[in-house]
Amino acid sequence: MADDLKRHWSDIVRCVDGLLDAVLPSEKTPPRSLHRAMRYSVFAGGKRLRPALCLWTAAVVNRRAGDAIPAACALELVHTYSLIHDDLPAMDDDDFRRGRPTSHKVFGEALAILAGDALMTYAFELIAKRTKDKRIAARLCEELAVAAGPAGMVGGQVFDMESEGKRPNAKLVEEIHRRKTAALIRASVRMGAIAGGATPAQLRALTKFGEALGLLFQITDDILDETGDERKMGKRLRKDAEAGKQTYPRVHGLDAARKLAAKLARQAEAALKPLGGRVEVLRQMPALVLERTT
Ligand code: IPE
Ligand code: IPE
Ligand code: MG
Ligand code: MG
Ligand code: MG
Repeated sequence: MADDLKRHWSDIVRCVDGLLDAVLPSEKTPPRSLHRAMRYSVFAGGKRLRPALCLWTAAVVNRRAGDAIPAACALELVHTYSLIHDDLPAMDDDDFRRGRPTSHKVFGEALAILAGDALMTYAFELIAKRTKDKRIAARLCEELAVAAGPAGMVGGQVFDMESEGKRPNAKLVEEIHRRKTAALIRASVRMGAIAGGATPAQLRALTKFGEALGLLFQITDDILDETGDERKMGKRLRKDAEAGKQTYPRVHGLDAARKLAAKLARQAEAALKPLGGRVEVLRQMPALVLERTT
């Protein structure tokens, strides 16, 4: 990673961590077990990609990225909830995430489910209460709900689950990935744009960027799951492949999956062109996601 991006990234992680710490109920607030479980997963070493995209996009369209802070925090809370539930025995049944025991391993299944529920609902509370312009708050809630709900992430998780063991299918794997992962990444970019007051033309270009980046991100997740370097830190390696999931390497082969990822990175970069010279750190994201190791 280039040095300036490394610096931007560590700044954003520090900033997002501070914001999340400030907005989440403390572990001393009853019910303590719930708040401990919420905080355990929120502060478990995530990359903070979604809030970073949201804040950086807001900064591209409007130098005051601060208007996007509640949305950025909400995105990370929804993402965290999705991972807690994704790891449950009823779903991917993973014991480790980011090298640490998963929520249900530490707190039990019931509390893990409830911590996920609480993070998801608290995300909407944050946007509704803390976004100053209430019309923008309503638009942001809609973006997040559509991206995370049946038309987006949850729908994608259902397709993912129901397609296990089925014959590899290129159309299906794209549909799964667009919904289960790309929708929230696309929304991260769009919510930053909306909070920053983007023009319709800026929003269109940024939406294309977010869409390509989101699909690229899940393809690289599949490749990392498959090639299995200790990158997923403790996840059971090749587990998705073993479960017969529809993944890009499984459907297209590893080399073709890598080529598709490179093509999407080029598409994402090209989508930023109409925005001119102000795209700063966003321009570096496709290459970074393409080459990521975590
Ligand atoms: C992992 O997302 C799950 C997917 C949607 C592929 P990230 O790789 O962004 O997760 P963390 O938060 O950085 O661990
Ligand atoms: C996760 O997809 C997508 C979500 C919406 C949570 P995966 O199941 O492939 O993510 P990892 O590999 O467990 O992080
Ligand atoms: Mg899964
Ligand atoms: Mg999983
Ligand atoms: Mg995966």
